[in-house]
Amino acid sequence: MDRTHLLQSQRSRYFCSTGTTRAIHMAGLAPIAFIAITIGLTAVAQETERDPDFSDRPVRTGPIKQAKDPSGPRRHFRLKNPALLTGEDAERLYTELKSDMATRYGLSGQPGVVNYQTWKRYNRVPYPSVSHGNRYLSNYGNPAAAAYGRFEQAGRLPVGSILAKDSITVSKNGQAMPGALFLMEKMESGFNYVSGDWRYTMIMPDGSLFGTTNGEGTERVRFCISCHLAVEQQDHLFFIPEEYRQN
Ligand code: HEC
Repeated sequence: MDRTHLLQSQRSRYFCSTGTTRAIHMAGLAPIAFIAITIGLTAVAQETERDPDFSDRPVRTGPIKQAKDPSGPRRHFRLKNPALLTGEDAERLYTELKSDMATRYGLSGQPGVVNYQTWKRYNRVPYPSVSHGNRYLSNYGNPAAAAYGRFEQAGRLPVGSILAKDSITVSKNGQAMPGALFLMEKMESGFNYVSGDWRYTMIMPDGSLFGTTNGEGTERVRFCISCHLAVEQQDHLFFIPEEYRQN
C-alpha cells in the first residue's frame, strides 16, 4: 500500500470510528482533520514504540522499576488471544493496572493527575480507539465537568473542568501495559483562542510530561488542538462512542 492509500485508509478508519453524522459535519474541515490525524497518528505511533521499556527516556526510581521486573505487569497481565478482547477482558486488565497507572502519572506533578480515578467515569468498560493510538481508553471528569455527562447536550463546560482519559495498550501478543494519560482542562477566557481555552496535556506512562498547551512541549500537543477543533461547535468535545457510555 503506498503512502496516499495508507493515509486514506487511516482517514476512513477514523471517520468510521466516530460515526457518519460526524463525518458529514466534519467534511468541510477535512483538510485540517486530515493533517491533524496524520500528525496525530505519527506522534502516537512514536510514543507506542517507546512504550515497551521506555528505553530512550530517563528511568525514574520507584514504580517504573516494577515494569522491568520479570514478574511485573507486562508479563503478569498477558492475554492468550488479544484479538478476542471483550469489554469484560479490557475491564479486568484495566482493574489490574490502574492503581499503578495513577502512581506513574502522578510523578508528573500535573494538576488533576493524582486523584482522577476518584472522579466520575463516563464509560462502562475501556473502549478501543484509533484516534489516541491503538489502545483501550477510559474517560473521567472532575466535579466541575459534571455537565460532560449530558454528552452532546453538555454546552460549554465551565472554567476548572478537567477531563482525564487514561489508556492501556494491548500488544498483538497479548501483553497489557499502561499507555499515556490525556487531559483537557478548561482555563480562563483568553488562555488560547484556537483551543477554545482548553489546555491539552499528555503524560507518558513513566510519568514524564510529553507536552502541555502554553507550557513545556506546547508544540508537541498542537495536534490535539487541531483534531478537536473539528468539533468546535460542541466545545471541542467528541464524547465517548454511544455504546460505551454510562452516567
Ligand atoms: C485524530 C483526532 C484526535 C487527536 C489527534 C486527539 N484526539 Fe482526543 N479525542 C478524539 C476523539 C474522536 C475523542 C472521543 C472518542 C475517544 O475517546 O476516542 C477524543 C476524546 C478526548 C478526551 C475526552 C473528552 C472528549 O472530547 O470527549 C480527551 C481528554 C482528549 N481527547 C484529549 C486529547 C489530547 C490531550 C490529545 C493530544 C495529546 C488528543 N486528545 C488528540 C480525537 C482526537
